[in-house]
Amino acid sequence: MARGLQISDEESGYNKNLFCIPKHYEEDLETVFIPHGLILDRTERLARDIMQDMGSHHIVALCVLKGGYKFFADLLDHIKALNRNGDKSVPITVDFVIIKSYCNVLVVEDIIETGRTMKALLSKLKDNEPKMVKVVSLLVKRTHRSPSYRPDYTGFEIPDKFVVGYALDYNEYFRDLNHICILKEKAKEKYRI
Ligand code: IMP
Repeated sequence: MARGLQISDEESGYNKNLFCIPKHYEEDLETVFIPHGLILDRTERLARDIMQDMGSHHIVALCVLKGGYKFFADLLDHIKALNRNGDKSVPITVDFVIIKSYCNVLVVEDIIETGRTMKALLSKLKDNEPKMVKVVSLLVKRTHRSPSYRPDYTGFEIPDKFVVGYALDYNEYFRDLNHICILKEKAKEKYRI
């Protein structure tokens, strides 16, 4: 299950007119690629898998800003629910890529493309000699550019397409969109800086 829910290269997504989309983004989006409800359902299961592996010690959940903030908040809500309702529970503290001494670290990322960003962060974290480091990424992109890095937990493995929404942005826009959607090419022009 380490590769996450596979979305094939042929998948084009869902007709956006069947979903609620903010008016200001309607003409910019091709399709709804991963609906919000599916993101939350997959996140619930990731929370369970993570707690099975890491739930014996205090966990520092490290949010990689800015794109990771929605996934981070929803993942932690599910982990907190497990803590409330399970036979055992562990304290969770949160941090936002501020390097300190950590015990167990769960790095929460939105998307991994080549893995360069994550490798750089992990090499910084190593200096602090954490007891255990695990990485969860909501999305992993299938790309031939440098497909060398794999997180410990993956929500969805997606084709090599540019996606926005659920805090993923294009030049800071589209974070205020619930679903993960495919951006139209001409919208890249519109929001280019
Ligand atoms: P990597 O270092 O190549 O793995 O790139 C990861 C970073 O690129 C992420 O943290 C995002 O900020 C950004 N990124 C890559 N693909 C996308 C995408 O499809 N939508 C939005 N941001 C992306």
